[in-house]
Amino acid sequence: MVKKVPCTVVTGGFWGDEGKGKIISYLALKDQLDVCIRTGSVNAAHTVWYQGNCYKLHMVPVAFINGKCRLLIGVGANIHVAQFLEEVKETNVKNRIGIDCQASIIEEKHSIQDTKSAHLKGVVGSTGRGVGPAIEERVRRSAKLARDVPELQPYLTDVAKEANNAISNGKEVLLEGTQGLMLSLFYGTPPYVTGRDTSASAICSEAGVGPKKVDNVLTVFKAFMTRVGGGPLPEELPKEEAKKRGWFEVAAGTGRERRSAPFNFEIAKKAVMINSTTQIALTKLDILYPQCKSARNYEELPEEAKQFINKIEKQTDVPVVLIGTGPAALDIIDRRK
Ligand code: IMP
Ligand code: MG
Repeated sequence: MVKKVPCTVVTGGFWGDEGKGKIISYLALKDQLDVCIRTGSVNAAHTVWYQGNCYKLHMVPVAFINGKCRLLIGVGANIHVAQFLEEVKETNVKNRIGIDCQASIIEEKHSIQDTKSAHLKGVVGSTGRGVGPAIEERVRRSAKLARDVPELQPYLTDVAKEANNAISNGKEVLLEGTQGLMLSLFYGTPPYVTGRDTSASAICSEAGVGPKKVDNVLTVFKAFMTRVGGGPLPEELPKEEAKKRGWFEVAAGTGRERRSAPFNFEIAKKAVMINSTTQIALTKLDILYPQCKSARNYEELPEEAKQFINKIEKQTDVPVVLIGTGPAALDIIDRRK
């Protein structure tokens, strides 16, 4: 019998930018991930701080920081060829990264369609990377696929097969979701959403892993909410107030300013329901409660921070197992044991 090792899907609970990059980088190092599968596309940037360096990844899976981890990009993804090749070089992962041969290609013309559209760019506030138009082209069944691109030949693989074999052979597999539930084409706030579903089920589908193969659904929430682009943000703070609280952020991918608001328990409950969340990761607790900075033990936290965590657990009925207390991969309180 092969020893069963949990398969985890990581999802965002709010509007993206919850800190999925940071949480996955911790898991990559601590849990000795064997396989990490990226989904989505170049509109999402995942930020990783490791050994004093900052990486903003749009294509390469975050777990690259674990040199033994096999890196894959799922069939549901949209590949930006130039961005992919550049990041492969930057992260030096040429020999251990694979792309599904039927993943589709995002091209310059898609980005132009995004930026020229008054609706997408102006109203929705698209990142302008062309992801919506690329998906549209795929739906019309005229998109170019990874297998059609000469530069991608060395990387082509069958991601679903690799992922399912790895799970069967007792390897630890993580599915890296992008954005957050509230940007989902289905469950977010249309029309102010991205071009695809971002729930756990969709991430599994993009990677080729069926629902019965997943053991943990880890949903990442930030200790406060932020949003870029158009659309409602309950209890949004004026920019001056956001700055005063240290909640003012600028987007990793586009350099745009993020709007911010307090943690919303109703939205968190919705994200937990639709993702069937089994574990919560909470990031940037040190921004809300500066005394938490770099804490590695739950006992070190001030009482008000503990009360906040208790309230999240009570309202969602899900344990908060990972707590981010600083930007570096290892600035984490891990309560899983
Ligand atoms: P698009 O997916 O680039 O067309 O953008 C549609 C909406 O989703 C806009 O409001 C974007 O700001 C937002 N969005 C897309 N990707 C991300 C992300 O990775 N983080 C945060 N917001 C995003
Ligand atoms: Mg981001």
